[in-house]
Amino acid sequence: MTLPPEAYLWFKSLHIIGVVVWFAGLFYLVRLFIYHVEAKELDEEIREAFYNQYSLMELRLANIITTPGMILTVSMATGLVVMEPSWLTEAWMQFKLGFVFLLLVYHFFCYRLMNQLKNNKCNWSGRQLRILNEMPTLLLVSVVLLVVFKSSFPTNAATWFIVLLIILMALSIQFYARYRRLSQSK
Ligand code: HEM
Repeated sequence: MTLPPEAYLWFKSLHIIGVVVWFAGLFYLVRLFIYHVEAKELDEEIREAFYNQYSLMELRLANIITTPGMILTVSMATGLVVMEPSWLTEAWMQFKLGFVFLLLVYHFFCYRLMNQLKNNKCNWSGRQLRILNEMPTLLLVSVVLLVVFKSSFPTNAATWFIVLLIILMALSIQFYARYRRLSQSK
């Protein structure tokens, strides 16, 4: 059976929608883990109720948003490479697949953390989880740059200036968030 050429565009559109859903889920999931871990500061009589509520929210988010987003991304990507197998021989795609592998490891690691949190066996601090939550951002930026520029990433001064601006923006957001946390805890 040969697919009509517009099937490629359908696969690509659904692939991008899957990516958006998957990342929304991954970002919010670890944010919930942070709230969950930090609920240990609460009074004993309400702490258990918060733990149970966070566990329920995490499970629903992971199973209703994050994993379906991952399945949509990967299944539509399979459609794309079936229609255009030559992509697999290109260097950018091989790098991309390496990053996607790391993302899948991260995805399943989040499930592991979710189970540990549910059973009160998670040893991660809020600070460690915040650092962990930067992982998908780095992978997202790397994959999007690879897929858009493919094997011709520009290396002129204007490009490095833009990269520098993005890094500065990301750092100022981090510093602002840290400043807010510190002033709230005083
Ligand atoms: C299962 C692994 C994956 C494979 C095999 C795959 C494969 C592909 C292919 C073949 C294309 C079409 C390229 C083109 O027509 O120019 C594409 C597009 C795209 N992919 Fe993936 N992908 C995968 C996972 C991901 C992930 C995890 C992300 C995000 C982090 C992602 C982001 C994108 C984006 C944004 C596009 C659209 C790029 C454009 O049209 O310029 N992909 N992908």
